[in-house]
Amino acid sequence: MTAFSTSPGRPYHIIIFGASGFTGQFVVEEVSRCASEGPKGSLKWAVAGRSKPKLEKVIEQAAANLGKPELKTEVDIIVADVSDQESLAAMCKQAVIVLSCVGPYRFFGEPVVKSCVENGAHCLDISGEPQFLEGMQLNYHDQAADKGVYIVGSCGFDSIPADMGVIYTRDQFKGTLTAVDSFLTLGSGPEGSCLNDGTWQSVIYGLADKGKLKSLRKKFGHKPLPVVGPKIKRRGLLFYSSEVQQYAIPFIGTDPSVVKRTQRYLHEELNETPVQYGAYAGIGGISNVFKFLISGFMFCLLALCSCGRKLLIKYPEFFSFGFFSTEGPTKKQIEDASFHILFFGDGYTKGQDPSKGKPNGKIRTEVKGPEAGYVTTPIAMVQAAITMLNEPDSLPQTGGVYTPGATFAKTTLIKRLNKHGIEFSVI
Ligand SMILES: NC(=O)c1ccc[n+]([C@@H]2O[C@H](COP(=O)([O-])OP(=O)(O)OC[C@H]3O[C@@H](n4cnc5c(N)ncnc54)[C@H](OP(=O)(O)O)[C@@H]3O)[C@@H](O)[C@H]2O)c1
Repeated sequence: MTAFSTSPGRPYHIIIFGASGFTGQFVVEEVSRCASEGPKGSLKWAVAGRSKPKLEKVIEQAAANLGKPELKTEVDIIVADVSDQESLAAMCKQAVIVLSCVGPYRFFGEPVVKSCVENGAHCLDISGEPQFLEGMQLNYHDQAADKGVYIVGSCGFDSIPADMGVIYTRDQFKGTLTAVDSFLTLGSGPEGSCLNDGTWQSVIYGLADKGKLKSLRKKFGHKPLPVVGPKIKRRGLLFYSSEVQQYAIPFIGTDPSVVKRTQRYLHEELNETPVQYGAYAGIGGISNVFKFLISGFMFCLLALCSCGRKLLIKYPEFFSFGFFSTEGPTKKQIEDASFHILFFGDGYTKGQDPSKGKPNGKIRTEVKGPEAGYVTTPIAMVQAAITMLNEPDSLPQTGGVYTPGATFAKTTLIKRLNKHGIEFSVI
């Protein structure tokens, strides 16, 4: 297995690749804040990206924001470009774990995964793109397993809270949990909430390529997962949810795909009962329903043709009612924002046979935390890396391309997240 400790030839526990991106900058600050949580109380880390001056600025900014002037001299800078394989290889050879923050991943993610596998670095990313994530599993799982390298996608808000939330709900239920519906709501302050257009672009290209996901999935040749208990009921495209007392829609991010892959792993590799999963998001009251219908219709129409995509990419604010912008959220918007996911589980209590009759037990849990994109995502990604460095014996037995749930189900990641403000609890 590729080692989890540094060596003279591999001097960094963590290299943040794409550190000069909107999200990358927050990841840099989070790594710095958590440096004492590394193996033996210290973490050796560096930043990487394609522009040295930009990276120097990021370090200067982090030093000022965190009151740590020493960062300016202590943090090494590595120049690497996705389009230059040699520079990627040189970077990957120096890292135990690469935190890949360069997206949209469908354009920039694969060379990083390939180079990590070839050069023995583990890799965590914050992709929210199922086609990329599943494509990497299809193309690199076996090679990664041979090399003992762990490639773990979707380690940000997409999809650690949902994936680990289902595992938490299952572990807290006294019996056999068979189905979970989750409801996400986002909180914001008086200035509203906003995401940077890096994520907007990932969503646009994701929708444009949706058809390819079906054919990709066929290539796995998976058998359907067994359904234990009654088949979960799918809600409509828009409905009033009594659970969150607002209108809700099916969640369009990666969570359902990631949770399903995790449940497949837990069933096929560890013989655990798979949990069926439905993910929904609250959108608020009736005025938001109108906004949602208008912007959703325009978005779907435009994302399907290349000139429409150009328009969407050029004017994110206009087409998303201000929810995405090229400048990203303000400091105040980030400070005031939060997320809340409620999980409603059904199952069979201890002693009840899950193959007979209806579920007789219920459980309700929640995961809540600070702003999703630039506070929760860096916390989740950095805690995932720190867990990997500190608890290699609790990871899957071989390397491979995994989901967060498959990788961290047997670790203390949830405990660590709780300590950092992403709270899991039974309610
Ligand atoms: N999971 C989640 O919940 C979550 C949350 C936030 C973001 N994300 C994802 O994270 C990704 C980044 O988002 P963002 O808003 O931070 O985007 P961004 O600000 O556009 O950052 C993109 C980064 O990629 C770098 N890059 C682009 N081309 C490159 C190349 N050829 N070689 C090396 N680096 C290159 C950019 O470098 P320069 O600085 O030199 O331009 C920049 O650092 C997106 O895919 C987004 O969806 C996910």
